[in-house]
Amino acid sequence: MESESGGSAAAFGAEASARENKLLWPRQWLVVGREDELPQPAHYFTWERTGVPLLILRGSDGEIRGFYNSCRHRGAPVVREARGRNRALRCQYHSWTYDTLGRLVSVPDERDFVDLRLEERSLVPIRVHAAGGWVFALEPGADTAPPMSPPRQSDRFRTIRTMSLTAACDWKVAASRLADLALEGAGDEGDPIGPNGRVAGSDEFGVGLFTWPTSPTTCEIQAIVSAPDWGEEDSPADAPEWQARFGRLTRAVERAAGTASEEQAGIDLDGPQSASAGTRAICEAVGRLTDGS
Ligand code: FES
Repeated sequence: MESESGGSAAAFGAEASARENKLLWPRQWLVVGREDELPQPAHYFTWERTGVPLLILRGSDGEIRGFYNSCRHRGAPVVREARGRNRALRCQYHSWTYDTLGRLVSVPDERDFVDLRLEERSLVPIRVHAAGGWVFALEPGADTAPPMSPPRQSDRFRTIRTMSLTAACDWKVAASRLADLALEGAGDEGDPIGPNGRVAGSDEFGVGLFTWPTSPTTCEIQAIVSAPDWGEEDSPADAPEWQARFGRLTRAVERAAGTASEEQAGIDLDGPQSASAGTRAICEAVGRLTDGS
């Protein structure tokens, strides 16, 4: 991997992590969730997996939008809950309040803010795109075309289970081990989605696996499982076939996390040469994405 100065850039460790935070994550469409998490206007969730606080919400007009979760008064988080539904998003600090389109609609005592123009203090938007039931987000300034709908994914599916596991390895090592996994029920390793994920599915279920950095030496493996929408019926999650499916997926992900941690322990942090071929391929792809300015 060539650095901006022409030298060899580290693929792992604090230097690589800092470079990815600056040049990778802000430039890529990232999977931040699923459309069914926002079933009605005013439903929202917050997201911060790459260190930048985002707010994703469905507006009163039915559109899904994204914003930096940062109040235009002094930058405090506007929303502190992981998810919820509220038509008036009120910052806890001084009660500036925004609507579901991100517009500042009220300030407690406007006389304290001479020359304040509410229309100039809307939440700062990010780009959001929905495809195949997934919600993607991209920070402003990145000139990247919206992702295509992932193959074999249906927007008629609904999230039935999410799982999260911490692995003692760089996210790229975990991603390479997950790429070897025959995703539950699909019989193969699925299709790439973004720089850090893959999805698989059939008529009966969908699964997305993502690896997110939590430190230069640890990551989160996130699994999102979806099923055909069950409408007003009870969720089928407790049915034996789904419990068995969750169990198989959990064990497979735990095994992948274990082998990724073992691989990480044998990697020379000065370079990816000692990593597996799959990990080296991911490091090279990330190197291309973070090359240049
Ligand atoms: S920081 Fe949000 S109202 Fe002051």
